[in-house]
Amino acid sequence: MRIFIEQSEQAVAQRAAGLIFENLANTDGPFGVATGSTPTPIYEQLSQLELSPSMKLFALDEYFQIDPNHPSSFRQTLIRELVRPCGFSEDNLHLPPASADESEIEKFEVLLNELGPVKIQLLGIGSNGHVAFNEPGSELESTTRKVKLHQTTIVDNQRHFQGEMPRFAVTQGIATIMRSEALLLVARGKHKAKALASMFGVGDLTPASHLAKHPNLIIVADSDAAALIESKSKS
Ligand code: F6R
Repeated sequence: MRIFIEQSEQAVAQRAAGLIFENLANTDGPFGVATGSTPTPIYEQLSQLELSPSMKLFALDEYFQIDPNHPSSFRQTLIRELVRPCGFSEDNLHLPPASADESEIEKFEVLLNELGPVKIQLLGIGSNGHVAFNEPGSELESTTRKVKLHQTTIVDNQRHFQGEMPRFAVTQGIATIMRSEALLLVARGKHKAKALASMFGVGDLTPASHLAKHPNLIIVADSDAAALIESKSKS
């Protein structure tokens, strides 16, 4: 595991974008992408770097039954924040199916296996320790599936959502995410400190705790998010 602790939002974004670039330069990916407030400045930095226009993109999650044209769908968010600014193609953007239809989920997992493994998976972390939308209680063996969002997630994400927050989502499972060659987990802010510490065996186990088993896990955090793990990062 490698840990980088940075002092500002910009330094976190620059560090994360640099690590992504190292893993994706001169390749077509796949790049595993996330949404939320954490990736936005990272995507801004990435758009300044030269990545292949044929980059293949796999998203972690999508809201259940959301209209793909809804401005707060993860599809539209990724098109706006990543695909267009970086000059990628929408045809290469794959998301778990909002329908949650079993055969569509199967197709998504098969495509991910065929085009994968993902070279680097960018991950945020929920204040309750969720990764993608694997909420507390999710198992290490979980694969792509429909999930019910926790109340904390609904409250946390409402601020990004135009309209009423969906109650369900379709998410890659923890086993799906663990197949990536590298995991890059980024955390900013005091409200993420407990969740981040759960990856180091501090406090309750969370879905993020499972990621500590990955052989190539990189964490980039600001000092507020890293407040409970600073001693670990110096060892
Ligand atoms: C989004 C996702 C979520 C977010 C998490 C943190 O694709 O998978 O797990 O990464 O909810 O969100 P922010 O970055 O808004 O704090």
